[in-house]
Amino acid sequence: MAKESILITGACGQIGSELALSLRQKYGNAAVVVSDVRAPQGELAEGPFEKLDVNSEKDFERLYEQYKFTQIYHLAALLSASGEKNPLFTWQLNMNSLLYVLELARQHNIKIYWPSSIAVFGPETPANHTPQHTVITPRTAYGISKLSGEHWCKYYHERYGVDVRSIRYPGLISYKTPAGGGTTDYAVDIYYKAIEEGQYECFLSQDTYLPMMYMPDAIRATLELMEATSERVKNRWAYNLAGLSFCPTQVAAEIQKVIPDFTVTYKPDFRQKIADTWPNSIDDHDAQTDWGWKLEYDLPKMTEDMIKNLRTKLKNKVS
Ligand SMILES: NC(=O)c1ccc[n+]([C@@H]2O[C@H](COP(=O)([O-])OP(=O)(O)OC[C@H]3O[C@@H](n4cnc5c(N)ncnc54)[C@H](O)[C@@H]3O)[C@@H](O)[C@H]2O)c1
Repeated sequence: MAKESILITGACGQIGSELALSLRQKYGNAAVVVSDVRAPQGELAEGPFEKLDVNSEKDFERLYEQYKFTQIYHLAALLSASGEKNPLFTWQLNMNSLLYVLELARQHNIKIYWPSSIAVFGPETPANHTPQHTVITPRTAYGISKLSGEHWCKYYHERYGVDVRSIRYPGLISYKTPAGGGTTDYAVDIYYKAIEEGQYECFLSQDTYLPMMYMPDAIRATLELMEATSERVKNRWAYNLAGLSFCPTQVAAEIQKVIPDFTVTYKPDFRQKIADTWPNSIDDHDAQTDWGWKLEYDLPKMTEDMIKNLRTKLKNKVS
């Protein structure tokens, strides 16, 4: 295997904190530089860290000169719900930083991973089994930035041969790092509240179906896409990834199998409006045929794993 030097931006977030550990396991601690505007905690701190604000093109260049990266996982972004509080800043942060990364990749032949999102879709998009290529009409600043980002990725690939790969992640559920301001965050919060308080007030209505995925599947998908040979990566915008499709009552019912007294009330807020523009479920046929993607965790298996691991984590926090 050729020697890799890897940069992860936004690495202290929900995805980065787990992706970084998987990459370090594969390539060794020294090969994976974790970067963020905040300092890494726990296991994540056991390897190189650089404070990097992705608004600074100069700092990207400085770090490139120091480490000569061969891969960049560019995760830093403002997410859907946080992004609506400051739409123009969201556009600037999400877009400018991607262009800095693509330019660096063009100049130095760096392989890029950049996540897109189901937020690219809109109310005109077919809501069930949303196809890979379809009507795409985002309604949030975040979704607009992700759709534009997909086009820039495709452009840099076709025009300059940049090896850039992307997935439209559904809502991601994990127990290690809290979710970072997305519309699907309820599906993480609900597990914490079930264990800590036995009750939860949900910010989406009970029958809101959204595409979701357990973090181990999302990390595996990311690594599998990055490891696929170039010929297999036929889509240079971003791959649909289906994952699960469930509504709050379904996840609550699954939790009640383990915590029977758990109760949920519903008080939809501004995030309901965003959720209403997103699909219920996704068709990921292309990811399956192009690079062999296969989901592992269904809702019962994920719930069992979440509750088991969260109970241990929260118990350790108290003691
Ligand atoms: N988590 C999901 O459900 C989900 C779904 C679809 C797509 N995504 C995408 O995956 C990526 C990572 O998402 P996440 O859930 O880990 O997000 P997160 O909010 O948990 O983490 C983002 C990280 O970026 C850092 N950051 C913010 N501004 C920065 C800046 N100017 N410079 C450097 N770092 C900065 C934050 O400190 C944070 O650690 C994002 O691009 C997001 O759009 C996430």
